[in-house]
Amino acid sequence: MNITNKYKQVRQDTINFCSHLQVEDYSIQVVQFASPPKWHLAHTTWFFETFILKNQFENYKEFSPDFNFLFNSYYNNVGTRILQTNRGNMSRPSTDEILEYRTYVDTKMLELLEKENDPKILDLVVLGLNHEQQHQELLITDVKYMLGHNPIFPVFNENYNLVADTNSESNSIKIEAGMYEIGYQGTDFCYDNELGVHKVYVADFEINNFLVTNGDHIDFIEKGGYTDFNLWLDEGWSWVNSNQIIAPLYWHKIEGEWYNYTLAGLQKVDVNAVLSHINYFEANAFAEWKCMRLPTEFEWEIAAAKLDWGKRWEWTNSAYLAYPNFKKENGAVGEYNGKFMSNKMVLRGASVATSKEHSRPTYRNFFNPTERWQFTGIRLAK
Ligand code: AVJ
Ligand code: FE
Repeated sequence: MNITNKYKQVRQDTINFCSHLQVEDYSIQVVQFASPPKWHLAHTTWFFETFILKNQFENYKEFSPDFNFLFNSYYNNVGTRILQTNRGNMSRPSTDEILEYRTYVDTKMLELLEKENDPKILDLVVLGLNHEQQHQELLITDVKYMLGHNPIFPVFNENYNLVADTNSESNSIKIEAGMYEIGYQGTDFCYDNELGVHKVYVADFEINNFLVTNGDHIDFIEKGGYTDFNLWLDEGWSWVNSNQIIAPLYWHKIEGEWYNYTLAGLQKVDVNAVLSHINYFEANAFAEWKCMRLPTEFEWEIAAAKLDWGKRWEWTNSAYLAYPNFKKENGAVGEYNGKFMSNKMVLRGASVATSKEHSRPTYRNFFNPTERWQFTGIRLAK
């Protein structure tokens, strides 16, 4: 697909997802980390305007002088911005204005794409599209967080359950000790944090070709998993206690039965489906309980070709750090991934909400160990 059509398609995918929203949904921010849909619509647009249009068109007239302040997420190189906690305070600009902003920027972008052939600029367009696809996943999980914390548990759309997948395999895979190459070696797009191909030595290990299921996790709950401090990392145990955690996010016990909120509404937990919405601490405690462990991100990448993956983001045992030879881009785009390399854990794979184009074995997702609103799951190794 040429870049113009790709641009149109990715931009339209965002709008298509939002077509299931109601007007009141667009502005709400329930918690700091989950942004309002309207903010996602604008921020992804701001990315193209800021990193491409403002530099490529002489006399480019920005859509609104306020928007750099409102929709810059975290780029210190691009100036000051509202606090992340204030993203939900913006009943204005209205959703209609944001949609006009999208059209305004799209018109300019399509004009640029018609004649642009500088590979540097085209790379930025591809980055902008990958960025928008990352925000499409965040949109899904943020909308789920908003509706999942609404006391009436609204149905977003009947076709958006997203937690129904089951395992297709039941074996485990043995990998020999040795030196392996880690990092992206292809020629298509990848993020900077996947680069700096290097060798890593791993001892022999065994990794499950299936994920922990809801049924397995109910077992963990019933056998006292959330009350046995011996299973938990210290920070995890504090998290369990200070938040009185007894189950994964979105789980509710109603008349003795577990239900979970899905985008298709509140449903009985399917014991055969793979587990979702647990954080790193829960994943680690579960592994401890099974006398196994989480794989490292390197083990995961080495085994990936033999694994059935793509249903859940899988917590690894690896801290999110720069690879040796990691090169940060100059300027604002250098802030995209590199500056988050502290106090986060790596997740590998992809979830049901991830763009298929982001589903590659070298992709490194990363979140704070307490976060569990993404479609996260557990794969065990030993
Ligand atoms: C890779 C999902 C952790 O949520 O900040 C969005 C994606 N980067 N805009 C994030 C991202 C810039 C990123 N994650
Ligand atoms: Fe972003």
